Amino acid sequence: MKFIVQGGKKLKGEITLGGAKNAATKMLVASLLTSEPMVLRNTPNIGDVAITQELCELVGSSITRNKNIVTIHTPEIKNTRVISLSRKNRIPVLALGPLLARTGEAEIPLLGGDKIGPRPIDMHLEALKEMGATIEKRESSYYAHAKNGLRGVKIQLRYPSVGATENTILAATLARGRTVIENAATEPEIIDLIKMLQNMGAIIELGANRAIYIDGVKTLRGVEHTILPDRNEAASFACLAVASRGDVFVRNAQQDHLITFLNALRKVGGEYKVENTGIRFWKEKNLQSIELETDTHPGFMTDWQQPFALLLTQAKGSSILHETVYEDRFGHVADLNAMGADIRVFSKCLGEINCRFNGKNHGHSILVNGPTALRGTTLTIKDLRAGMAHLIATLIADGESTIENIEELDRGYENIDTRLQNLGADITRSI
Ligand code: EPU
Repeated sequence: MKFIVQGGKKLKGEITLGGAKNAATKMLVASLLTSEPMVLRNTPNIGDVAITQELCELVGSSITRNKNIVTIHTPEIKNTRVISLSRKNRIPVLALGPLLARTGEAEIPLLGGDKIGPRPIDMHLEALKEMGATIEKRESSYYAHAKNGLRGVKIQLRYPSVGATENTILAATLARGRTVIENAATEPEIIDLIKMLQNMGAIIELGANRAIYIDGVKTLRGVEHTILPDRNEAASFACLAVASRGDVFVRNAQQDHLITFLNALRKVGGEYKVENTGIRFWKEKNLQSIELETDTHPGFMTDWQQPFALLLTQAKGSSILHETVYEDRFGHVADLNAMGADIRVFSKCLGEINCRFNGKNHGHSILVNGPTALRGTTLTIKDLRAGMAHLIATLIADGESTIENIEELDRGYENIDTRLQNLGADITRSI
């Protein structure tokens, strides 16, 4: 499917955030930890949630959806081998923890790399092995078993990986004894997952210096949980409002999830006002260049980088954006340049810090010279967040654009075309 976009409209009005993709998918998987029904409110109706539902159904869950309320019930684990999924994302690896914890066995498909780098899962596997699992890599799967159950241990993550932290937390909730995760990731989506698990009966403490302590319990119960709003959508819509010289109220945007983003936006010259029910974004003055690097929370998130790179094409001067989380996340640059942007990719670390990719020949820093006018073109989306940069670019460009492979955007943004049409965007979905 594709979008046909007529660019150059100022976007104005109000848009409401959906529930966070990167919490909803983990919570569905976490529901496998209990035999009781779970109700997830504010579950976005997006591709990644559909893929995760398929995974849970394969395991034995019954799932119903009423608007954005999803009920999921897994009275028994009927199948621990979830290798026959029709579509793939990164979520199946997270099923290892709950399946091992509940049945002592799991098999998941090999995930492989994707458009943003090799994305290894070594830290997930090492943590589960330290907890007592044996994991075998097979031709197209990982097979894991823990005949004597999982036990709590001290896990030192060499990088605060979101997924490895979540997998270890899920596995540890039902393990014997205490698990300590050092150098854990602390993203708001993880805190929301912890809140849900705590209500389910888990004992999880947050310590200083990125430590998380989990005391295993025997069983967990079903609860109702409302998923936090998607801060990646919030950042995308903020960039769209400012880049289009528009004025958009993002309902449910939460300041405490966006503090670093709001600082960067202010430095570049974007305006915002935090209100009780959301944040309004607009632009009055010209945008100016900045230097910035992505980081794990509470730093500037890697998923904000792509729409922000697009925003920097409209800022006066030379901006630096240094990606320190993924080694290969500038796939959108060539397309933006084809539309008229002036962006150069460097393999050295631009800016003030040297990151772990220094000297490894990954194109992970960019220099953006602006402002540059953008013209409409035909683009193909390769990755979800890069796709958002494409979409914003076409919305502010002169003339008509065609965006192919919008299924990637549908993985993470619910009804994005209709919601943007409500802001005045001229965007049509077609086959
Ligand atoms: N890493 C390893 N080994 C591991 C795990 C991670 O080397 O075992 C590396 C990765 O290759 C990467 C870095 O550690 O360089 C960070 O990866 P992390 O594990 O934190 O990311 P993730 O859990 O795979 C989630 C989100 C991403 C988001 C990142 C960072 C989900 C499903 N995905 O990925 O979101 O960018 O955290 O916040 O939660 C997206 O939504 O489009 C997306 C890619």
